This record gives sequence, C-alpha cells and structure tokens, in this order.
Amino acid sequence: MNDFTSLSAPGGALHVHDHDDYIIATLDRPAKRNAIDQDLINALHELCAELERRPRTLILHGSGGNFAAGADIAQLHERRAEDARAGINTHAFSRVAALPMPVIAALDGYALGGGAELAYAADIRVGTPALRIGNPETGLGIIAAAGATWRLSSIVGEALAAEMLLSGRILTGAEAFSAGLVTHIHDSGEDALAAAEKIAHRIALLDPAATRATKRVLLAPRESHPAIDLAEQASLFESPEKMRRMSEFLERKKK
Ligand code: COA
Repeated sequence: MNDFTSLSAPGGALHVHDHDDYIIATLDRPAKRNAIDQDLINALHELCAELERRPRTLILHGSGGNFAAGADIAQLHERRAEDARAGINTHAFSRVAALPMPVIAALDGYALGGGAELAYAADIRVGTPALRIGNPETGLGIIAAAGATWRLSSIVGEALAAEMLLSGRILTGAEAFSAGLVTHIHDSGEDALAAAEKIAHRIALLDPAATRATKRVLLAPRESHPAIDLAEQASLFESPEKMRRMSEFLERKKK
C-alpha cells in the first residue's frame, strides 16, 4: 500500500491511499464534519486527474464517523452569482461520476448537502445505521445544484427525490437502504469501508475494459441505447481478453 499524500492540501483535507487495484480517498476535516471546501475540491480534481491517467476503482469515505456535512458554509456564504455559475462543486462531482472505473462511497454519519451530492456521484453506495443523508440546501436559501436534482431521482425515483429536495427530509441509514440509495447496511463505518474494499477486490478480478464499457453505457443518455451498447459490445467481441476469458471457461468445462 502506498500513500500519495501529495493530493492532500496543506491542511490535509483529502488523504489518498493507493492499494494498487483500488484507491481509498478519505475526506479528512473531522473538526468541520468533513465539510467540502475549495482545498478539498482542488484535491478531488488532482485525484481525478490521476485516475483518468491510470484508471482504478475509487472508494470515497470520511474520517471521524461522518462522510461530509455539506459544502463549506463559511465559503458558500462568501460566494456570489459568478461563483455559482462556475459550478465549483458541480464540475468536481461530475468529474468523479465520469471516472473510467467504478466509484464506491462508504457512507457513515452525516452525508448532507454537497456531501450527499458527492455520494450520489458514486456508482455504488454502502452505508451504516448511523447514516443521515439528504439535502438541507433550501433551508440555507440555495438549491442543491451539484447533482442532486438529476442524480438523486435516477437513484431513488422522482417521488422520493422531490420530497427530499423540496422538504429537506433527511434519510436514516435504514431509510436509505429501503430506498435503494445504499445497497448494503453495515454495523459500523469500519465495516462499511471493509465492505467497499471487498467490492473493489471483486471488481479487480473482472475485465477492466468490460467494466469501463459497462460504466460508459450506464452513464449514457437514455436515447443513446441500444446503439451505444452494441458499439461497446462490438469492440469487446474482438478483444483478446474476451477470447482468453471465454476459452478458459470452455476449457474448464471440458475437463
Ligand atoms: N460547513 C462548514 N462548517 C461546518 C459544516 C458545513 N457544512 N458542517 C459542520 N461544520 C462545522 C461547524 O460550524 C462546527 O465548527 P466549529 O466547531 O468551528 O464551530 C463543526 O463543524 C462542528 O459542527 P457542529 O454543528 O458543532 O456539530 P454537530 O455534530 O452538533 O452537528 C451537523 C453536525 C452536521 C448536524 C451540523 O454541523 C450541521 O447542521 N451542519 C450543516 C449541514 C448543512 O446544512 N449542510 C448543507 C450545506 S450545503
């Protein structure tokens, strides 16, 4: 296991551990409940650049028993119209969502506002009973503009997304599990992280080209199906790795 802590801002907001097959990035501002500030956004961009260069599964989690209690309200307070249009968090979370390999969020404690939106940008989410996830933005006089209005409804359906975004309803871990917002519940944050690592190990056994193609197809707009599926499959049908994996299966069956 290597650390490439160069991604941590001087304040050490994002700790990145390279496990070779996958990377764990820990949001680490526990005294501020891991509120996402500009340093953290910069570090996320650096991390994305690394994962775009050398694609691997990314696990996101937070230190101190919380994922992230939102965008940093002290910084949001100072931002004006031009900053909103620049989409500081929106672009970073979209870059995370578009990473070539899967992103897994291990969620515990508060995942609110921008913290929830970062979680919605992941492909796979696991949680704990202590999870509290939702979007209180309208209570602060703003909207959830970093992905919640389109990603949340595609995860939990329009009805629950509308209730959460319009009424500020925060889901417990059990409610998030019932809604499919997290696909597993684990006893503690440590267990959730271990489960995310297990998923990352499983992904590492699969063909990365097929995993990346699956992700591209999953993220493609509805109107691009099935053409995009067939184009991706056509390319994989010619791949030596597909031949190798399928021949291996057939050989095994012959024995
Ligand atoms: N932005 C900036 N600072 C935040 C923050 C955020 N989103 N969330 C928490 N913090 C800071 C607090 O200001 C406090 O800092 P201080 O100790 O310097 O005063 C510290 O983190 C601890 O927060 P505190 O409220 O004392 O902890 P708590 O455990 O009692 O409550 C929360 C935790 C998450 C319920 C509460 O902090 C909260 O409501 N945060 C804001 C949630 C939110 O509206 N997020 C959406 C933002 S778009």
